[in-house]
Amino acid sequence: MSDTPDSPVISPEAVDAAVDAALAAISTASDTATLKAARSAHAGDASPLAQLNAQLRNVEPTRKAEFGKLVGGARGRVNQALAAREKELAAAETAARLDAERIDITAQPHRARIGARHPISLLQEEISDLFVGMGWEIAEGPELEHEWFNFDALNFDVDHPARQMQDTFFVDPVDRHLVMRTHTSPVQVRSMLDRELPIYILCPGRVYRTDEFDATHLPAFTQFEGLVIDKGITMANLKGTLDHAAKVLFGPEAKTRFRTNYFPFTEPSAELDLWHPTFKGGARWIEWGGCGMVNANVLRAAGIDPDVYSGFAFGMGIERTLMFRSDVQDMRDMAEGDVRFSEQFGMVV
Ligand code: DAH
Repeated sequence: MSDTPDSPVISPEAVDAAVDAALAAISTASDTATLKAARSAHAGDASPLAQLNAQLRNVEPTRKAEFGKLVGGARGRVNQALAAREKELAAAETAARLDAERIDITAQPHRARIGARHPISLLQEEISDLFVGMGWEIAEGPELEHEWFNFDALNFDVDHPARQMQDTFFVDPVDRHLVMRTHTSPVQVRSMLDRELPIYILCPGRVYRTDEFDATHLPAFTQFEGLVIDKGITMANLKGTLDHAAKVLFGPEAKTRFRTNYFPFTEPSAELDLWHPTFKGGARWIEWGGCGMVNANVLRAAGIDPDVYSGFAFGMGIERTLMFRSDVQDMRDMAEGDVRFSEQFGMVV
């Protein structure tokens, strides 16, 4: 370099120009990569300010301090601007990354609805549990049943009105004598033929009748049937059993009463009424089902000696029971399968 003392190699204008260029590059750097380039261009070894700094050694000694301060101050400002911008960009980049990686932990997970258990299933299980709790067994039979089990073995006359086409679903071909069982009572006969004595069984299950589909009738519905065959069984045992069941299902105030009636498979037979202490419209008697002492003809049809054994039986509808137990107004709600109906009864498993 061939500078003379009169023309200093470092001028305030040159320093200002270098600083202005540096600050402009720094402030327009929009990401850390661009800022890195600005840093090397304006504060790196080959930058104008570094070159000006290198020129200090050519400055005459008397002005060294003055120019040293000028260049040093300029470099300081540029470095400060670099540091500030770096901090800003780093914060912005972190914020952008956090934003991009945001997980909304308040979002509702998408769950498939799994439905609800049907109140008829729940009540059927509750009733079954109550009898299993007394040591009884659960017995089942087919829904497509032979006429002999559904009627003949149960002591129905050949011309009993229940056999008529308007009550019973007969299944083709008619000469096979198959019907959709009209009640759970045929399970009594099957159990007496299958099982060892004594017998203490509860038979819950679906039955079919050519009934209207209306608020109090369904062509397919559910019953539970009880059967006890043992030595020395009397109507007192029947009454005690039904009173116990009533109390378990309807509370300690509940009880039952019998009214005389006729069923071909029991003798004597009774209509069974329930005292429902918590009925929606006030405590009252409600017709619940039928019962009686197993007819000697039924015992004989199943090969049991009526002089040694006696027994009782009862049968009730589960839909009807649910209706007055849970104040359901329309039985069709139990058949239509709308999950909102089932959900009202809770999710007891
Ligand atoms: N099976 C009868 C019906 O569906 C109900 C019934 C009455 C069952 C008396 C019985 C009984 O076991 O003893 O209407």
